[in-house]
Amino acid sequence: MSDTPLLTRRPEWAALEEHRAQWQAPLRELFAADPERAERYVVRVGDLRIDYSKHLITDETLALLQELAAATGVFGLRDAMFRGERINVTEDRAVLHTALRAPLDAVIEVDGENVVPAVHAVLDRMAGFAGRVRSGEWTGHTGRRIRNVVNIGIGGSDLGPAMAYEALRAFTDRSLTFRFVSNVDGADLHEAVRDLDPAETLFIVASKTFTTIETITNATSARTWLLDGLGGDEKAVAKHFVALSTNAEKVAGFGIDPANMFEFWDWVGGRYSFDSAIGLSLMIAIGADRFRELLDGFHLVDEHFRTAPPEANAPLLLGLLGVWYGNFFDAQSHAVLPYSHYLSKFTAYLQQLDMESNGKSVDRAGRPVEWQTGPVVWGTPGTNGQHAYYQLIHQGTKLIPADFIGFARPVGELSEELKAQHDLLMANLFAQGQALAFGKTPDEVRAEGVPEEQVAPRTFQGNHPTTTILAAELTPSVLGQLIALYEHKVFVQGAVWDIDSFDQWGVELGKVLAKRVEPALTEGADVPGLDASTAALVAAYRELKEV
Ligand code: F6P
Repeated sequence: MSDTPLLTRRPEWAALEEHRAQWQAPLRELFAADPERAERYVVRVGDLRIDYSKHLITDETLALLQELAAATGVFGLRDAMFRGERINVTEDRAVLHTALRAPLDAVIEVDGENVVPAVHAVLDRMAGFAGRVRSGEWTGHTGRRIRNVVNIGIGGSDLGPAMAYEALRAFTDRSLTFRFVSNVDGADLHEAVRDLDPAETLFIVASKTFTTIETITNATSARTWLLDGLGGDEKAVAKHFVALSTNAEKVAGFGIDPANMFEFWDWVGGRYSFDSAIGLSLMIAIGADRFRELLDGFHLVDEHFRTAPPEANAPLLLGLLGVWYGNFFDAQSHAVLPYSHYLSKFTAYLQQLDMESNGKSVDRAGRPVEWQTGPVVWGTPGTNGQHAYYQLIHQGTKLIPADFIGFARPVGELSEELKAQHDLLMANLFAQGQALAFGKTPDEVRAEGVPEEQVAPRTFQGNHPTTTILAAELTPSVLGQLIALYEHKVFVQGAVWDIDSFDQWGVELGKVLAKRVEPALTEGADVPGLDASTAALVAAYRELKEV
């Protein structure tokens, strides 16, 4: 057993508890007391301007949080990650997604071997293949040009490319159609391919392990669809299926030519993988040069996280703010609210990144934690959420810290009229941050002539903390910067909470049980040891199925 002090028994923790107990400064007062606050509480990294002035913090809060970070060894763990040490303790693996975006002359070793040349070799192969698909040189079995690309994968093998494809639509080749299939519900594949011509369709089967049941089931059905459509010639598979995986044996076993496999490595976690070969569909969509810009954006923030001083280190600051609310204000969730339609899948992507990483309840030594760990992450693009759940953030009983993400200029070939809507979009972002922070006092409500009995419901208490992340445009580089920012924020929180942010044992039990229950549904098989509730559900399902 580790003799590291438990987090909540550290003096730095006690100091924060004490600070929290005395906390009473409303944001209005904090801004009134410090005319520089709006400028001082801004951190810049790459193209991102990150404003954290609307947080329930003072310089003292930040100093105490920094002391906690130092005491909990955040920097040592960060450096160990970048060095390729096996910081994923339960799986005994290195955690090196940062190597995926390192420049060619970097040296990053795993077990004494520099992995950077292999990373670039795969990127070069991907670039060659993506170029051939984009130019029409790569043709399908019948000699027709590929017009449709269907990525089949789930979790990190789906969310990253699907999110980034949406985010960077303005940069995509519009003559190609992209679809992303993840759900084992047959409707997902059906809807994805029903209007496609098999002769023009390329399937990218993305699976780190190549054993994930949803992906293998969907890939098998896609193969049937393809062969049915092309007259059953098995040779067609070689022209219409490629694989992205760490498992060459399973890929070959599935019937995909290993020459059509793009490799990555066990030191890339699923939720940190879309800048590996898993990004092939995106590379086909935006081209290899734009993909490199994306990787360079990631790398820029990696370097910032690795080298910036603590007080100006953006992922560190955002991570610590999350600790402040989660552990000292009992905030249970965190909203991410992008004011960009192109980021419509960004929060869903972050859900896996954050919740699969930090949804843990034992520490790195296996001891139960006595403190809150990762928050529930949620949100949808503005302004839609304003007409749905923002009411609860403004006037509900829960404290929900939120991130606003917005851009100064719209991207894409929008008409002048649509471009002009951008100011209205951003006015909403700024207005929401203002209302959440500063609210509306009863006196302000009264001053509007509101009758006394209606003053309370129209009062906004304010003091809802938000971060505002601004950039000029949503480019590939900026997307890479944003993702790396959140990756490292999640890292910081996991390090403070002393949990392994890189395993996901919680996903396993459901997988095992689903395999056990399935025969009961398909064949009515007797599943020994099924609990009474599940057995009754299975019986009801079978009865309904027969009707
Ligand atoms: O959800 C669990 C998980 O292992 C994720 O971490 C991963 O991204 C996903 O399943 C898919 O796994 P694979 O890429 O091996 O198919």
